Parts: sequence; structure tokens; C-alpha cells
Amino acid sequence: MKVTFRIWRQENSKSKGRFKEYETEGLNEDMSFLEALDHLNEQLVLQGEEVIAFEYDCREGICGQCGVFIDGRAHGPHRNITTCQLHMRSFKDGDVITVEPWRATAFPVLKDLVVDRSAFDRIIEQGGFITAKTGTAPEANAIPIGKEIADKAMDAAACIGCGACVAACKNASAMLFTSAKINHLNALPQGKPEAYSRTKDMVAQMSLEGFGNCSFTGACEVECPEGISISNISEMNSWFLKAKLFG
Ligand code: FES
Repeated sequence: MKVTFRIWRQENSKSKGRFKEYETEGLNEDMSFLEALDHLNEQLVLQGEEVIAFEYDCREGICGQCGVFIDGRAHGPHRNITTCQLHMRSFKDGDVITVEPWRATAFPVLKDLVVDRSAFDRIIEQGGFITAKTGTAPEANAIPIGKEIADKAMDAAACIGCGACVAACKNASAMLFTSAKINHLNALPQGKPEAYSRTKDMVAQMSLEGFGNCSFTGACEVECPEGISISNISEMNSWFLKAKLFG
């Protein structure tokens, strides 16, 4: 299998980037997309060229490190998968595949396809924790939590913080990410004591980081590899209102 990768190359956050094309042979449809990029990098090493910087860790759809735009879609053409779960069988022999980094002011490009997503870490620092003394792991049924609430918390907790929601949003809003992180803790009894302060502080940090506002286009939900529901944003807004009135 042979494709042409059209890849964004950028030296650092200060330099101007540009697309560069690489004809890549010797691929096969069972390779993951990241393995195809590895293959291209091996080719570049042999040619004495600088390799393409891209991020990954688990390669199993868990860590959220590997997000890039592929042909204009966050994580590529399929829904509910990350870039590392995408396979070359999703492309045709001879395709030209455009790969670029997330585009958002709050996610500056560090090099090539790697962006700085530490803004997400700073949002988490503001409230992604509980202060209840939990001690050692309690017996699973010691705190009864209804299935509906447990499911809701787990669905929100599925967010892997990859940043696709920000990249897909025309306003570069981080509201899907922030709302998922707020709601998964606010839903549970252990997270209730600081629900108001968590909501206010995380939303404030989100604004401080320069993310845009949500205009409910739904692009974030469509491109989220974990299928996090946009209803989380409405729920966060409701928590925010309650926090302002009663917090
Ligand atoms: S490398 Fe971990 S989610 Fe893709």
C-alpha cells in the first residue's frame, strides 16, 4: 500500500509551519495509523531527514495523547475512536492524507503535530479532586449509589482529555472537557462537598486559559472519541448557576 502523507511541519511554537508531502510505500492495511507514521519516520531517518514529532503513549485509546486532525476530522474519519485505534484499511491505495495538529490558541503547537495541552491540567488542578477522607479502598457497597447516578458519573469520567472537543469546535471551547470533569465528581456523594467551588474554579480557569464559549453546534460530541454527551455542558451550566446563587 502506498499513500502520500501531507503533514504539518513546524519547528517550534514561534516558527511558521507549512505542509510537506511524503510519498510512503510499504504500508499495509493492518497497520495502525501511528504505525504508518512510525514507518514514515524510519524512512526519514534513512534519508537523513528530521523525523515527524507526534504524541502517543498507550496506543490503546486510553491515554488521550495521540490526537491529530486527519483529513479535517479530529482523530480521523470514524466516530468514537482515537488516532491510535485508526487503521490504514480506512484509506485507499494512492490516497493523499492530510495530517495536522489541533488548532486552538490555548493549545500552542510545540513541534509538528505535538501541541501543549497543559491548559487542561491547570483546569483539573482547580477542582478535579475530592477532599473527603477516603482512607483505604472502602467496601464497594459501603456508600450506596444508585445505578443511574453511577452510570452518569462513569459516562462523564470516560473523558480521556485528548482535546478533540476543543479542536473540533469553531470557538475552540473546552466546555465538553470541563463539564465532563466537573459532572463526574459532582454526581457522586464523595464529590458533593466541593461541588460549587469545583464548578466555579474550573470554569474560571477554563476562561483564563483562553478557550472560547460554547455555541452548541455539537461538533465536540461528534468528534469526541469517547462519545461524551453534550448534555454535560447543560448540566455544568446548571451547576454554575446554582454555585453563583448558593455557593
Ligand atoms: S496513544 Fe493513548 S489514546 Fe492514543
